[in-house]
Amino acid sequence: MPKFVYDFTEGNKDLRDLLGGKGANLAEMTNLGLPVPPGFTITTEACRTYLADRTVPAEEIATHLAKLEATMGKRLGDAEDPLLVSVRSGARFSMPGMMETVLNIGLNDDSVLGLAAQSGNERFAWDSYRRLIQMFGKTVLGIDGERFEEALEELKAGRQDLDLDAADFRRLVDVYKEIVKQERDREFPGDPREQMELAIRAVFDSWHAPRAVLYRRQERIPDDLGTAVNVVAMVFGNLGMDSGTGVAFTRDPATGQRGVYGDYLQNAQGEDVVAGIRNTIPLQELERIDPTSHHELLDIMARLEGHYRDLCDIEFTIERGKLWMLQTRVGKRTAAAAFRIAVQLVDEGLIGIDEAVLRCTGQQLAQLMFPRFTEGAANTLLTTGMNASPGAAVGQAVFSSERAVELAARGEAVILVRRETNPDDLAGMIAARGVLTSRGGKTSHAAVVARGMGKTCVCGAEELEVDTKGRRFTVNGTVVEEGDVISIDGTSGAVYLGEVPVVPSPVVEYFEGEEPAGELVAAVHRIMTHADESRRLAVRANADNPEDAARARRFGAQGIGLCRTEHMFLGDRRQLVEDLILAENPRERQSALDALEPLQKADFAGIFAAMTGLPVTIRLIDPPLHEFLPDLVDLSVKVATGAGTEKDERLLAAVKRLHEQNPMLGLRGVRLGLVIPGLFAMQVRAIAQAAREAGKARAEIMIPLVGAVQELESVRDEALKILDEVGVHALIGTMIEVPRAALTAGQIAEAAQFFSFGTNDLTQMTWGFSRDDVEASFFGKYLDLGIFGVSPFETLDRDGVGRLMRIAVAEGRATRPDLKLGICGEHGGDPDSVRLCHEIGLDYVSCSPFRVPVARLEAGRAALAGAESDTR
Ligand SMILES: Nc1ncnc2c1ncn2[C@@H]1O[C@H](COP(=O)(O)OP(=O)(O)OP(=O)(O)O)[C@@H](O)[C@H]1O
Ligand SMILES: [Mg+2]
Repeated sequence: MPKFVYDFTEGNKDLRDLLGGKGANLAEMTNLGLPVPPGFTITTEACRTYLADRTVPAEEIATHLAKLEATMGKRLGDAEDPLLVSVRSGARFSMPGMMETVLNIGLNDDSVLGLAAQSGNERFAWDSYRRLIQMFGKTVLGIDGERFEEALEELKAGRQDLDLDAADFRRLVDVYKEIVKQERDREFPGDPREQMELAIRAVFDSWHAPRAVLYRRQERIPDDLGTAVNVVAMVFGNLGMDSGTGVAFTRDPATGQRGVYGDYLQNAQGEDVVAGIRNTIPLQELERIDPTSHHELLDIMARLEGHYRDLCDIEFTIERGKLWMLQTRVGKRTAAAAFRIAVQLVDEGLIGIDEAVLRCTGQQLAQLMFPRFTEGAANTLLTTGMNASPGAAVGQAVFSSERAVELAARGEAVILVRRETNPDDLAGMIAARGVLTSRGGKTSHAAVVARGMGKTCVCGAEELEVDTKGRRFTVNGTVVEEGDVISIDGTSGAVYLGEVPVVPSPVVEYFEGEEPAGELVAAVHRIMTHADESRRLAVRANADNPEDAARARRFGAQGIGLCRTEHMFLGDRRQLVEDLILAENPRERQSALDALEPLQKADFAGIFAAMTGLPVTIRLIDPPLHEFLPDLVDLSVKVATGAGTEKDERLLAAVKRLHEQNPMLGLRGVRLGLVIPGLFAMQVRAIAQAAREAGKARAEIMIPLVGAVQELESVRDEALKILDEVGVHALIGTMIEVPRAALTAGQIAEAAQFFSFGTNDLTQMTWGFSRDDVEASFFGKYLDLGIFGVSPFETLDRDGVGRLMRIAVAEGRATRPDLKLGICGEHGGDPDSVRLCHEIGLDYVSCSPFRVPVARLEAGRAALAGAESDTR
């Protein structure tokens, strides 16, 4: 039988899979000799077993508890001098506040008296007892936490919680017990061991709580890992003003600024700080209150940072002047902080530059490219809170998670405004553009979760009076009702009335060519430089016009991987396209094509000019022809009502003739080129002439939707003839977007000098669903069912589409070793997909101009991650 329970002295930080992050790090701190209360961890494996058959390793737990009792010299729940413990969840990946924890286990009607006598503090003992019933009632017995909150508010009758005395808490214990009886028709269990076992089971069960499931989906954490449970001897921050509890970061997780950052609360127990129940004080003030503990804490933080070689966040408690460490982990941080800290750590000699690049993700870079609010806008500044998570968010104020979800589903931009958030607000936070709270510090639930999601957040805006029921807030005399637009600045903490206009980010300005200035931009510059030096994949852009091409080039694109030509047939050229479609004989057709050709040539000339010296892949016309014709219904009405001309009648006939049930699977791409004589030839001639005139142009002609080498051959032969006539050289290749093309890549490569994976179509055709039709209708359900963890249109489906790509790469290269390979679907700018493209050996990825820096960074990271695993 596997070992299911580990003492803190037995684990270490590398056992996160087994002990969860919290357990592994508690063990690590214990072994470093830091002051951690003793305890043990029940493994994630035990959780998986429990979730399968509901058993817990009772004997092993009893053995470890006995050992803990011996170490502490106290027995769990003893009537004279009770040992109390916390039962805490802790999974492999940190899920802040997502699962359950119960403190003060071991208290009952007898041991509460023992605790009071031993501590000489009756108030503390009864406060701890009522907290146990409250947390146990909510977490283990599933009673709505509001019931307890309301009872507490009623008892307080306007007083602060520090004003309550022992008698108040004693009364509250009775009220709470009564609530348990009413709600669950049972007594609150007084037996300490039963309390512990029920709490352990509840933590295991919380793995499947809806908010935990939602969080995992959002963060792409696998569903089958399970959580560990930590049983930890209690230490008490609620023993008086010389006690307290706090959370801290070794650097500012919002900005990456050097120097510790934290919140502290005197005479309070753990979760009070995070819940934002009272306003905390900054960590610096602890220096005044308890210099010895403060000094020790800073020392420990410096050690932890050196040990983990990264920003750490910690939870600590001071019990009557004695410091205890309750948790540490490598802390979450904003995108800006990630870049700044990575580079700081390089300069401090803690990590190398390779590792720094691996620690900054493309996703984070993308966040830094968001616009910011214009300075000096005329909007009323309502108030300023804490800058918890950066960005500029504008939207209607809403006051509940449900409402946020409802309005966002209608496409409205909303800002979720709450006094404080709790895990039940998660859906609303996801739906909202930004989050604003009136209570809690940078370590409050709202702040931590928003940062994790990359969502703009201003927290602790104390001047706000939030009236959730009345759906409004008041601030300095201004009333903001639900639906009123506000703007929040997560970088400065400012809250404005109305919509504030936005400006581009400094990172974008840097990519646009400005000299790197400021610590953040300098950090981005260093990371990007090293990513570029390390990557093997080239990065190109998808651009259809000279402006996009020029921007892409400034952003570092090394060419164009996809220039679409269809838009060149719209606007005032529609007329010519209509003529082409209505042509009744070769002469009419040719004259329409002759009229289009110079226009096309001019389109290409501008793009070649913007991309001098770099490859430009131009895709010949792809969509079905009817897309260039008027709408069937409109035209029918026009003709039926007699308002149509003779041409309209012919158009209508053409629209009807070209109408298809499944246009996506119809007459498009190469099929069109083969069916309409002269169409592709006209495009090729325009490309060739523009390339010849542009001088240093490197044209690549790409044939779409090929499924058989024969299709490609006939188009290629015609194109080669034209290129020869004009006297320019251009590569001729094809998109791989039909599964048959991937499966016959060996043959197709005979006629293609390059492949470009068109993964939008390839995904549609591999799965057999059309993105436009199904994403809204059933993807939500599919995500729920876990059929995919993320939409296959967002991230390449490794197993299916990825496999087709591998086949095509291998067989294509076998035929033609110098075959060029790229990708031009939207996946080209998606971090996970870039990694796949690196792994399967493509030469380049192509993505939208704005994603080019993201792809450059991810290509560098993929190469570095690969190098790392090669040397292992
Ligand atoms: N043995 C203990 N003595 C004193 N306080 C404790 C003890 N165990 C836990 N706490 C405090 O109780 C609070 C909740 O605990 P815990 O860390 O398990 O959950 P959390 O902080 O809500 O979520 P996360 O899993 O993200 O850390 C924390 O503030 C923690 O420091
Ligand atoms: Mg914690």
